[in-house]
Amino acid sequence: MADLCGGITLEMLKEAWETVRSSPLGVINTPMIPWSQTTLQLDGPACNIHIKLENMQRTGSFKIRGVANQFARRPAGGHFVTMSAGNYGKSFAFASKHYKSKGKVVMPETAPVSRSVLIQSFGVEVERVPNSGMMDAVNRCVQEENMTFLHSYDDMDLIAGHASLGFELLEAVPRPDVVVVCCGGGGLLAGVAAALKLSGCQGTRIYGVEPDGACTMFKSFMEKKPVGMDTKSIASGLAPPFAGALPYELCQRYVEDIVLITDEEIKSAVSTLYGAGLLVEPSGSAAFAAVANGRIPDIAGKTVVVILSGGNIGKDELVHFPD
Ligand SMILES: Cc1ncc(COP(=O)(O)O)c(C=O)c1O
Repeated sequence: MADLCGGITLEMLKEAWETVRSSPLGVINTPMIPWSQTTLQLDGPACNIHIKLENMQRTGSFKIRGVANQFARRPAGGHFVTMSAGNYGKSFAFASKHYKSKGKVVMPETAPVSRSVLIQSFGVEVERVPNSGMMDAVNRCVQEENMTFLHSYDDMDLIAGHASLGFELLEAVPRPDVVVVCCGGGGLLAGVAAALKLSGCQGTRIYGVEPDGACTMFKSFMEKKPVGMDTKSIASGLAPPFAGALPYELCQRYVEDIVLITDEEIKSAVSTLYGAGLLVEPSGSAAFAAVANGRIPDIAGKTVVVILSGGNIGKDELVHFPD
């Protein structure tokens, strides 16, 4: 397979960081707190855990970082289309309103109607289609209406924007031994891993975490190429049908390993975090679930950073989680 991302450099990622930092979208340098500050005890080997609170990010997830860089690098007043049922769609809609660009989000008809309503409230059009028809709907918009497609995880500008989280992480915890990041299509993991490794953190082990029912990056590592599968998980943000081609290239270069967790472990992590006063959605809790359930090897006595990637969860959804 051709090397898709040989051109990635520290300078390019730093430039994107500057774009994200100064973005008119108001991207937040989110807090990093030591787990001990929560006063909750965690089972397992004693280690020095820090959590990065992207659940407190503008629009409720890290996605706004990549979106800020994507929009800054596209012509103003463009007409964009994307495919998303969740956090990317929300950030895309928020940015479209700000940049006064026309936008459309193609969404699976199984997504909650409240999601469509929220996205439409930013002035962005929503087209609800059957799952299998999403790509066709996007292609129609590109070919017949001349819209530009923005990908929600397989896009270098987006990944470079996500890398800003890696740089911020190093400002707060300069020498992490281990960094744990959840993985859907792999954009976040790829961006954070590239920022750390290109900044010289050769000794830092970076782990990706996927639900066992939606483990496209895990399978891609096994098959040595980006692959897809029928995915199913309570963490819908971690369950796109394919691993991204660019994220795969970067992850196989910079990521130590991909570990798997179950949906039950994710649910219990959501509850534990809630008990610590942190509202985190299932996708956003996956990295924490991996640490809490002993999936990350050799962490005793180590400095471990865990990213909580999003907090978009409704009160109605929370009732399904264990006490
Ligand atoms: C909260 C949250 N975390 C993680 C992810 C996964 O991101 P990526 O597709 O870049 O791996 C998503 C994707 O929607 C998400 O919403």
